[in-house]
Amino acid sequence: MAASGSSSSNSNNYEIPWVEKYRPTKVADVVGNEDALSRLQVIARDGNLPNLILTGPPGTGKTTSILALAHELLGPNCKEAVLELNASNDRGIDVVRNKIKMFAQKKVTLPPGRHKIVILDEADSMTSGAQQALRRTMEIYSNSTRFALACNTSSKIIEPIQSRCALVRFSRLSDQEILGRLMIVIQAEKVPYVPEGLEAIIFTADGDMRQALNNLQATYSGFRFVNQENVFKVCDQPHPLHVKNMVRNILEGDFDDACAGLKQLYNLGYSPTDIITTLFRIIKNYDMAEYLKLEFMKETGFAHMRICDGVGSLLQLCGLLAKLSLVRETAKAV
Ligand SMILES: Nc1ncnc2c1ncn2[C@@H]1O[C@H](COP(=O)(O)OP(=O)(O)OP(=O)(O)O)[C@@H](O)[C@H]1O
Ligand SMILES: [Mg+2]
Repeated sequence: MAASGSSSSNSNNYEIPWVEKYRPTKVADVVGNEDALSRLQVIARDGNLPNLILTGPPGTGKTTSILALAHELLGPNCKEAVLELNASNDRGIDVVRNKIKMFAQKKVTLPPGRHKIVILDEADSMTSGAQQALRRTMEIYSNSTRFALACNTSSKIIEPIQSRCALVRFSRLSDQEILGRLMIVIQAEKVPYVPEGLEAIIFTADGDMRQALNNLQATYSGFRFVNQENVFKVCDQPHPLHVKNMVRNILEGDFDDACAGLKQLYNLGYSPTDIITTLFRIIKNYDMAEYLKLEFMKETGFAHMRICDGVGSLLQLCGLLAKLSLVRETAKAV
C-alpha cells in the first residue's frame, strides 16, 4: 500500500495512528484468513451480498473487511446506502425499531445486484432484545437491505440471527502474515529495525495485527529504533527470555532458580496474568518432548483458570512451578 503524502516519514507529534493510516481499503489488501477473504472477494465482484456475520479475535481484519467490501460494492453510493453502527452508538431496541427500519425503508437507486448495507460492528454487545427486534426486519427488507455483523464471539449472537446469516470465521494471523504487513509499514515509514525487534513485536502481538502495528509505532515514537529491548520496554510484558530461563530451569531440575526467576518477575510488578500468558506461549513453542509439553500446557491452563478466578498470588504461581517440576520428575521416572 502506498504511504499517503509526504508526511509519512515526518517525525511530527501529530501522526495519525498507523493502524488507521494503513487500514486496507480493498478486500484484496487484507492479509491472512484466505478462505474467508476469498469468499468476500467473490461477493465484492459479483454483488448480491448475503446477510453476513464476521466473527473472530480482535485485530484480525473484520471491521476492515466489511468496510472495504461495502466500499467495493457501492462505491460513490456508500454515503447514502450504508448505515454503520458500532458499540459506541446506542443500539437498543428503539434504534432497531426506528433508525434501522427507517434506513431500510429509504429509497436509494443502486445498480442491479447491489443492496443497501447495515453494518453492525461489535454486534456481540447488542442486547438480546435488540437482536430479537432485528429478526423480522432482516427478512421484510431483504430485497433492498442486507446486514453485515462483526463480533468477537458468535455465540453472543442469538440463534435466529445466526440462522439468517452466512458465518465467516476469522482466526489469528500467522507470524508470517504479520511480518509481511509490518515490512510494508516499516518501508513506508522508514523505520530503523533489527530482525530480533520484529520477532519481539510478533511475539507480543500474538496474531493480532492491530497490536503489532500499535507496538511498532509505539516503539518507533519512543525510541526511534526497533530492537528487542525497546519493544519489551514499550509493551511492558515479561521478557520471554526471562520466562524461557524459568522453563529451562524446571527442565533441568533447578526448582529454586526457577522460583527465584519467578519472584523477580513478580516483584517487577507484572501481573500473574501477564506472567502466565507469556509462560503458556513459551511452553507452546519450547523444544521439548511432546508428552511433557502437553502436560506442562495442561497444568499451566489450570493455573490460568485459577488466576482468572481471582487467586493470583505468588504462591499460586510457585505452586505451578512445583507442579511442572513434579510432571518432569514423573516423566523421567517412566
Ligand atoms: N488482516 C489484516 N490485514 C491488514 N491489516 C490488518 C488486518 N487485520 C487488522 N489490520 C490492521 O489492524 C487495524 C484494526 O483492524 P480491524 O478494525 O479490522 O480489526 P477487527 O477484526 O475489527 O478487531 P475488533 O474485533 O477488535 O473490532 C486495521 O486498521 C488494520 O490496520
Ligand atoms: Mg472491529
